[in-house]
Amino acid sequence: MQLDNILSTRQFQDRSLLQRLFASAERLEKLDALHQLPPSLAGKIIATIFYEPSTRTRLSFECAVLKLGGQIVTSESAGMFSSAVKGETLADTIRVLNGYVDGVVLRHKDKGAADEAAHYASIPIINAGDGTGEHPTQALLDLYTIDRERVKSEEFHMPLASPEGLHIALVGDLLKGRTVHSLALLLPLLGPVKVSLVSPESLQLPSEYKNFLNAQGVEVDEFSALEAVLPDADVIYMTRIQKERAVDGEAPLDEKDFYCLGLPELAMMQENAIILHPLPRVKEIATEVDSDPRAKYFEQTRHGLYMRMALLEELFAPRA
Ligand code: NCD
Repeated sequence: MQLDNILSTRQFQDRSLLQRLFASAERLEKLDALHQLPPSLAGKIIATIFYEPSTRTRLSFECAVLKLGGQIVTSESAGMFSSAVKGETLADTIRVLNGYVDGVVLRHKDKGAADEAAHYASIPIINAGDGTGEHPTQALLDLYTIDRERVKSEEFHMPLASPEGLHIALVGDLLKGRTVHSLALLLPLLGPVKVSLVSPESLQLPSEYKNFLNAQGVEVDEFSALEAVLPDADVIYMTRIQKERAVDGEAPLDEKDFYCLGLPELAMMQENAIILHPLPRVKEIATEVDSDPRAKYFEQTRHGLYMRMALLEELFAPRA
């Protein structure tokens, strides 16, 4: 299967494609440690066009391109510094870039922006977050982290399709958190998973993702208290409340609607569970938790570099 764009994790429902990407990411990590990365992107110029703030996504993509021998042009804060300020449409910006570069990594405030960009481009478009829509490359690195840290890990001996399966808890702003949307579409690929959704009532996962999970035969339960899932969950995926996406007239959230995983919560968790967070964290995970072996969010960011390299190779230097 050949990828033309990366717009949604709906494109990644093929287990053999995921296995290939996971194997590539692992191979690239080993080669990087040996300073033997292949120049797979030599001669390619990739544009990173970000209309919203980013640290990890933009910089890990840029490092991934540079490490594979490609070059980068960037418009950080594109909403402020690109011709968007003068009123240029996304469609026109993409049409122009299409003549300059070999691929575009795009982050935009509007849901559907990456699909729109792909419509106007003949070069690959990578969705690096489209408003409250999706964030597919983050979810792929999340799944890769679950696979690396929990499923395959020697220590845990958890085979991919174990009869008990994994219990994954998605916590926080499930309504507007785009990483959760993309991840929900991938979780059934881990085998017989059970998914717990933990959110305030006003921030529940949109029904299109719940329906998807149900249609895949996944057991889905909803909770409002974090404590309800801590003793049983294998993976706790914390997310931040997407405050910047509040719409006019929306009722403000109460302090009790913010989840925080601190030492008391840690004490309730299984010994071999893992804690993930796409970051940035605000108050969802206390810094005291960082030194616990179950805290895997910084490993997660590191895995992101190699997963993005694997994705770039898949798009720009596919193996025969
Ligand atoms: C996420 C995003 O931008 O959606 N950040 C990221 O890319 N790691 C999560 C967030 O901002 O809450």
